[in-house]
Amino acid sequence: MTDVAATASSAYRQALSIIDSVEPRIGGAIRQELADQRGSLKLIASENYASLATLLTMGNWLSDKYAEGTVGHRFYAGCQNVDTVESVAAEHARALFGAEYAYVQPHSGIDANLVAYWAILNKRIESPTLERLGAKTVNDLSEADWEALRREFNTQRVMGMSLDAGGHLTHGFRHNISGKMFEQRAYGTDPETGLIDYAKLAADAREFKPLIIVAGYSAYPRRVNFATMREIADAVGATLFVDMAHFAGLVAGKVFTGDEDPIPHAHVVASTTHKSLRGPRGGFVLATPEYAEFVDKGCPMVLGGPLSHVMAAKAVAFAEARTPDFQGYAQRVADNAKALAEGLQRRGVKLVTDGTDNHLVLLDVATSFGLTGRQAESALLDSGVVTNRNSIPRDPNGAWYTSGVRIGTPALTSRGLGAAEFDVVADLIAGVLRGTTPVTAANGKPGKAKYTIADGLAERTRARAAELLGGFPLYPGLEV
Ligand SMILES: Cc1ncc(COP(=O)(O)O)c(C=O)c1O
Repeated sequence: MTDVAATASSAYRQALSIIDSVEPRIGGAIRQELADQRGSLKLIASENYASLATLLTMGNWLSDKYAEGTVGHRFYAGCQNVDTVESVAAEHARALFGAEYAYVQPHSGIDANLVAYWAILNKRIESPTLERLGAKTVNDLSEADWEALRREFNTQRVMGMSLDAGGHLTHGFRHNISGKMFEQRAYGTDPETGLIDYAKLAADAREFKPLIIVAGYSAYPRRVNFATMREIADAVGATLFVDMAHFAGLVAGKVFTGDEDPIPHAHVVASTTHKSLRGPRGGFVLATPEYAEFVDKGCPMVLGGPLSHVMAAKAVAFAEARTPDFQGYAQRVADNAKALAEGLQRRGVKLVTDGTDNHLVLLDVATSFGLTGRQAESALLDSGVVTNRNSIPRDPNGAWYTSGVRIGTPALTSRGLGAAEFDVVADLIAGVLRGTTPVTAANGKPGKAKYTIADGLAERTRARAAELLGGFPLYPGLEV
């Protein structure tokens, strides 16, 4: 056992005994979660395993401090230690991503996106209005001017990637507040190649004239050319906002460089910290100097007091991501995704875009196996393989049942699996899906939810998955 594992085991055991003395069901759930995570073949593209150092940083009294405001400008007294935490986290974020400005307060990806949107609205709409009316702040506006400004906020336009092409709800879709704030037009992918159709996007942007173009995705298995995105935005006077929530780890790990690195090209970049970046659950925003003062107003614009214990853990995770080890990890995430994609294709699985060059793979399970995403996801889960269903472009089964399954490599790569093991994973997945049959519905057509799995297949797959994972323990040596 390593020193770190031994020390962490003792720390967790003692912490859990204190938790048990107050509410043993919570201590039990924490222990069980570790056992479940250890035992599952986790292929959810948006999940990972944070380091013990990152996890341990979150459980302390920094959580107790209110610190609304920014470093050195707080609305509460006694924030000197939070100032240290926030400055160190922001310093690491700037250095890690080569960004001029970093804001590390957002509690999650959705909050980071809201901070970004309102920073852009503040700079592009509110600030010029105040200047025109000779007002210093919104409090100086008359009722009529304030009403006019409020209405102007609501008439702005945004373009984001369509959901079935891999975009995210926060990119202007109706179920999210972004869709209620903005008039949105979605851009999609080329039906032949499955790749972003930049020429069509440019033409649509010329016609729609958005204030903001959002680049970024949760289920697009390819890289984005952010230099081209910026040209398209500049041509119509739009702000380029990149949501790198999913692929921040590949940017941090220098897998995405040049035109594929969003930082030199975007005006504003938002992200999560807990996906491929392997940090605590949280978000952050990077910006060019012209947007920095507006992003800095995230609190009180859309945030209350920062989660100082999580900002501390972000600092630790950013520090880890600045090491050569992390660059090796990020490269392996991408290499493993390729191995997984090739393994699936060799076994006859149709992939959206016929492959991947990032951390995720999107299986077209309708074309490959005559299944819905929901049936495939459930059959895989029965067999110990954790994935999630996802729409594919122009999905015939809609957003609930879907025709796709999304899988990603960040988590299992953290456990140490390499290309050979991901080929075994491909074999497990293809085997389960080939042995799964939709149950015929009352109307004689294949049903969308029910399915059967060939006798013993789920059990055999579980056993093979457990054997595979046995060679790559999660948090080796940690005993709670
Ligand atoms: C592209 C993208 N943006 C934002 C989010 C929201 O992140 P969070 O769940 O931390 O709010 C997600 C999460 O799935 C995402 O994929």
